Order: sequence, then C-alpha cells, then structure tokens
Amino acid sequence: MLVTGASGNVGAPLVEHLVAGGARVLVASREGKRAPEGTRAVRFDFEDAATHASALEGVEKLFLLRPPTVSDVKRHLLPVVRAAKDAGVRHVVFLSLLGVEKNPRMPHAHVERFILEAGLPHTFLRPSFFMQNLSTTHRDDIREHHEIFVPAGKGRTGFIDARDIAAVAARTLLEDGHEGKAYDLTGAEALTYAEVATLFTEVLGRPIRYPEPGALRFALRWYRRKQPVAFIAVMTGIYTVCRLGLAGTVTPETQTLLGRAPISMRQFIQDHQACWM
Ligand SMILES: NC(=O)c1ccc[n+]([C@@H]2O[C@H](COP(=O)([O-])OP(=O)(O)OC[C@H]3O[C@@H](n4cnc5c(N)ncnc54)[C@H](OP(=O)(O)O)[C@@H]3O)[C@@H](O)[C@H]2O)c1
Repeated sequence: MLVTGASGNVGAPLVEHLVAGGARVLVASREGKRAPEGTRAVRFDFEDAATHASALEGVEKLFLLRPPTVSDVKRHLLPVVRAAKDAGVRHVVFLSLLGVEKNPRMPHAHVERFILEAGLPHTFLRPSFFMQNLSTTHRDDIREHHEIFVPAGKGRTGFIDARDIAAVAARTLLEDGHEGKAYDLTGAEALTYAEVATLFTEVLGRPIRYPEPGALRFALRWYRRKQPVAFIAVMTGIYTVCRLGLAGTVTPETQTLLGRAPISMRQFIQDHQACWM
C-alpha cells in the first residue's frame, strides 16, 4: 500500500495502523528518506510527475490526499490518478471533505471526479473540521496569547480527531467491502468555540478565551504574520461557513465504522496538552 501525506495529521497515525494490521506499507514523502519502522520510504512529489510511476509500481492500494498547499489539482493530482490506474491500483481511499458533493468547485470535488472518471475502485472519506487545527495552525494563539482567535461567531463545529479518520482509513484499506462508498466522518458532538475554550481552560488549568473576533480582525492578524493572502482568504471562508451555522453536522458514521465513540474534544486536549504549555 502507498500512503501519501504520510507525515501528516491523518497519514502518520494511518501508517501505524497499517503496520499493526500487517500491511506492507510504502511511505511517500517529497524527501523519500524518513520511514517509520516496518515501512519503506519512497520519494513522491505531486508536483514532480517524474516521481509518480516509480512510487506506484506494484502498489495495490493507495491512500491519496491533496496536500493543502497543492491548489491546482488538475495539474498535480489528475496525473497521479492516471498513474494509479496505469499501475493497476485496485483501491484508492481518498481523503476528501464533508459536504463536497454539494460544492462541485472545491478541489476535493474535482479529485473525486477524476477518480470516478478513471474507473478506479475507491472509497471517499469526507471528514469535518480537524481538532488538530487547534494544535497546529492555532497552536501559538492558544499557547502564547491564551485565546482561540477564529472568526466563527457562535457557530457550531462537528470537530473530528484526525486519529479517528486514520483509524477509519485503515479499516477501509485493510478490509474488503468499502469500495464505492463515501463516508461522512464527524465527531460525536458539535461545539461552539466558546465551549471549546472552556474545555481548554479546564484541561490546561489556565484561562483560555474565545474573543469572537470578526473576519477583518482575524485576517489582519494573519496578514501581519506575513501569511499568503490566499491562505488567509481560505481560512476566513472556512470560519465564515461556521459562523453561518453550516459546520455543525454530526453523523453516526465514525462510531459505526470504528465500533466505539469518536475521540472527544476533551480527550484531544488532554492528549496534546504539552503543545500548548
Ligand atoms: N484540516 C481540516 O480541518 C480538514 C478537514 C477536512 C479535510 N481536510 C483535508 O485533509 C487534507 C490534509 O490532511 P492532513 O491534515 O493529514 O495533512 P497535513 O498534516 O497538512 O500534511 C500534509 C502532507 O502532505 C505532504 N505533502 C505536501 N506537499 C506535498 C507534495 N508536493 N507532494 C507530496 N506530498 C506532499 C506532506 O508530506 P512531506 O512534507 O513529508 O512531503 C504531509 O505529509 C487536505 O486535503 C485537507 O483539505 C482537512
């Protein structure tokens, strides 16, 4: 099996599950050097077509994601889908996005279409907002400013822990019976950011605020951090969707597929608390 994005939020725990499940795992990365125990490293870069065929040689199953920095999916993901077809890949599990079927302009919708058009047996994983955004993108706001600084108003989010997505991905790759399916994956509850801040306060033992910034204040803070305008626009858009009350979907599919409750926000904070200290 070839795992793309293998060092990421979903890919890293996925590789652990696959190794534990006895799979022979090829770990794809742009460097092609680091490989966890029990796996083999392979150089693979979406933006370098010369790496595609060699990485996919002999691969039966592919875990595919679109790295957040790769925006032109026609240019950089379509060739990978075609190379997978040419290599005889029997099953592609694609990390997509919740609600993608209603947003045909999203890059993930295009990739789903490429896979369908290639006639590749597939499973689409459509997760909600990752809890890990709080330990990566927003970590410094929480650690240094003691606040969650996102323009989400009082909107709710059906957060999911990326480790649960990885566990589902592992099942779909290791078991039969998931071909042709699309799974809407969320956590067990939808929380406001005020509720998330309260959980942080309780677990970390120091006050973490949610000042409910507007979109402009949020964009300005990230602009001053010299982040690309496109990145700021995407983030502002995502949180505006939440502010409008459109991110609170909760589905039972994670629980059904894993046979246990999804990881809660409290558990996520407990497990990662060192990163905000
Ligand atoms: N964050 C959310 O709330 C959320 C919600 C729903 C869906 N998603 C989707 O989930 C995906 C991101 O998953 P993630 O958070 O697990 O990833 P991530 O932690 O952002 O990691 C990105 C991965 O992509 C690899 N990568 C980056 N550029 C590459 C390139 N040019 N060629 C090959 N590999 C490359 C990196 O590997 P190396 O650096 O080692 O090469 C890294 O392993 C995105 O498609 C995003 O839209 C995210």
